[in-house]
Amino acid sequence: MAPRLSEFARGIARTDSAILPGTGWFDTIRHMPIPLLPGLLRMPVLGLGTWRMGEHRRTQAAELAALREALDIGYRAFDTAEMYGEGGAETLLGQALAAALRGPLQREQLCVISKVYPHNASTQGVVAACERSLKRLQLEHLDLYLLHWRGSIPLAQTIEGFERLRARGLIRHWGVSNFDLDDLQELAALAQGAACAANQVWYSLTKRGVEFDVLPWQQARQMPLMAYSPIDQGALAGHAGLKRLAAGIGATPAQLALARLLGEPRVMVIPKSVDPVRLRENFDAASLTLDAATRRQIDTMFPPPQRRVPLAVG
Ligand SMILES: NC(=O)c1ccc[n+]([C@@H]2O[C@H](COP(=O)([O-])OP(=O)(O)OC[C@H]3O[C@@H](n4cnc5c(N)ncnc54)[C@H](OP(=O)(O)O)[C@@H]3O)[C@@H](O)[C@H]2O)c1
Repeated sequence: MAPRLSEFARGIARTDSAILPGTGWFDTIRHMPIPLLPGLLRMPVLGLGTWRMGEHRRTQAAELAALREALDIGYRAFDTAEMYGEGGAETLLGQALAAALRGPLQREQLCVISKVYPHNASTQGVVAACERSLKRLQLEHLDLYLLHWRGSIPLAQTIEGFERLRARGLIRHWGVSNFDLDDLQELAALAQGAACAANQVWYSLTKRGVEFDVLPWQQARQMPLMAYSPIDQGALAGHAGLKRLAAGIGATPAQLALARLLGEPRVMVIPKSVDPVRLRENFDAASLTLDAATRRQIDTMFPPPQRRVPLAVG
């Protein structure tokens, strides 16, 4: 049966209850966090992206307001990088988090993710880059620290840096981004490589190649896949077929795009928005369960891969 508006409204009520002080992690059905291995940290299936934030002084006030709004809505996972606005996004996120943490929000309720530039990913470089990120974020630790993409520095050196950070308690977990299957396999064969906790890749309805190989490989190892650009940087919100389908079930095209990805085990999505209405809209997608008929219609418009496809890179 297609999701009805009333179900949607209940989803909103559930997510609201999850932001009450003291409730801790999302204990709602659709916002159920997925465990981040190794260790006990869990991350919500939907977080907020911050690419393009902190780039221009004239837009910073609106971006900071959006981050505060996101926290009010109930976003608890935030994805950023030293690259975004050359530290500007981390600085803004740090301001929003610091303000929220002065209230009832507990640090343990958050999952903060940042990324190191490949050219900073030597053993010493990764430690120094993380310390700079933490300063901008006004935090004592990151929940997850990712290698943004593969560069020329040997992975073993980067892992050594990550492990030093972990030993010092500056990061809880480390992972990678833009890694295709062969990169993941190479990583897994290295000493400590199996400690990789997540891989963040471009995964959207038009970029489903990962479903053929990367996602099953990660699922077999209980390694979450973080979908970046999950609404194709806004483009899927204007897709005519998705619009028609969404209108019939009281949802929006962006929500269908997000909810379809969240139908796959161990997938989390990190849509970015600075618009209060779209922030709420995207957040509520995690409360939307698509029925089999809706999934089939989406899959007809955006067929899953039948053969290996090289990883899409944003
Ligand atoms: N690891 C990597 O290499 C990598 C690469 C790319 C992205 N990322 C991460 O993934 C995050 C998300 O990816 P993304 O920012 O590239 O793309 P996205 O989340 O797919 O789309 C963001 C764009 O779509 C618009 N938008 C958001 N929600 C919408 C909605 N409901 N309806 C219509 N338009 C909507 C946003 O505009 P408004 O802000 O005006 O709403 C923004 O322009 C990034 O912010 C970043 O944190 C990582």
